[in-house]
Amino acid sequence: MALITAVPAKVRVYGEEKDMAEVNFLCVHRKLRSKRLAPVLIKEITRRVNHTGVFQAVYTAGVKLPGSVASCRYYHRTLEARKLVEIGFTRLAPRMTMARMQKLYKLPAEPNTKGLRPMTPEDVPAAHKLVVKYLEKFQLAVVFSEDEFAHWLLPRKGVVSSFVRMDADGVITDFCSYYHLHSSVLGNPKHNTLNAAYSFYNVAKTVSLTALMKDCLTLAKNEGMDVFNALNLMENDNFLEELKFGMGDGNLQYYVYNWFCPTMQHNDVGLVLL
Ligand SMILES: CC(C)(COP(=O)(O)OP(=O)(O)OC[C@H]1O[C@@H](n2cnc3c(N)ncnc32)[C@H](O)[C@@H]1OP(=O)(O)O)[C@@H](O)C(=O)NCCC(=O)NCCS
Repeated sequence: MALITAVPAKVRVYGEEKDMAEVNFLCVHRKLRSKRLAPVLIKEITRRVNHTGVFQAVYTAGVKLPGSVASCRYYHRTLEARKLVEIGFTRLAPRMTMARMQKLYKLPAEPNTKGLRPMTPEDVPAAHKLVVKYLEKFQLAVVFSEDEFAHWLLPRKGVVSSFVRMDADGVITDFCSYYHLHSSVLGNPKHNTLNAAYSFYNVAKTVSLTALMKDCLTLAKNEGMDVFNALNLMENDNFLEELKFGMGDGNLQYYVYNWFCPTMQHNDVGLVLL
């Protein structure tokens, strides 16, 4: 009837690392909405987390609550134009035909970056090193242990996809990933599910971030995704326009519970929650 989750995570905010809880997946059954059940769930999970000696938490919400630390925006990149128009996720712009729209969003059949391949358990130590080092740039970021990195980012069919490129010395130089989150399409005669990929963690060292993300779009499309979503956090501003992402209509607010600090810009955020 209702759900809330919390998992442990080491989080760095403005140079200070703390053991926190990542709180996510708050949901109340439609029939039980507006009865103040959400605050009951929040209070109970806070009590249980406190019981483990942890007093800070990080969470995101579409709604604006007091004390947000950053505000990010979702962008959407069309992969399957016809389907997105048929389900009303997007529409044909004035003077645009379906054929022209499909041409506009056409991607190469295969990624351009040579050697980009799915991450394997053997890649984890080197990929972990690359991503953790990269995340040091940001003011709000998760500090993954190697085990946590493997748990969150090793490919799992229908859950998460991640790809690496390795140089001749066995060093991972580039990494890209997305998680899968599908939505039900209601009342459409032709389609039941919208297959969406969400940008997760990406690091580009031997190619530009834009080139790597173009490959990521191609890989997502080849896996059957209809749309690729990304927040404007980390360095994503660099590729959103060039790769033809359109701005979404919602913001995602970031919160750090029981922690006082200044607000930050969206590109200072280096944390993506599922
Ligand atoms: C979000 C959801 C759980 C809220 O439940 P609800 O029945 O509408 O609200 P309740 O009566 O239980 O509680 C209202 C209180 O919860 C707060 N609240 C609502 N959404 C919240 C959120 N995402 N995070 C934290 N608090 C939230 C409200 O601010 C309000 O508190 P206030 O009066 O002190 O401001 C419910 O709408 C839902 O399940 N939505 C679909 C899933 C979803 O959007 N989850 C949130 C993802 S961030």
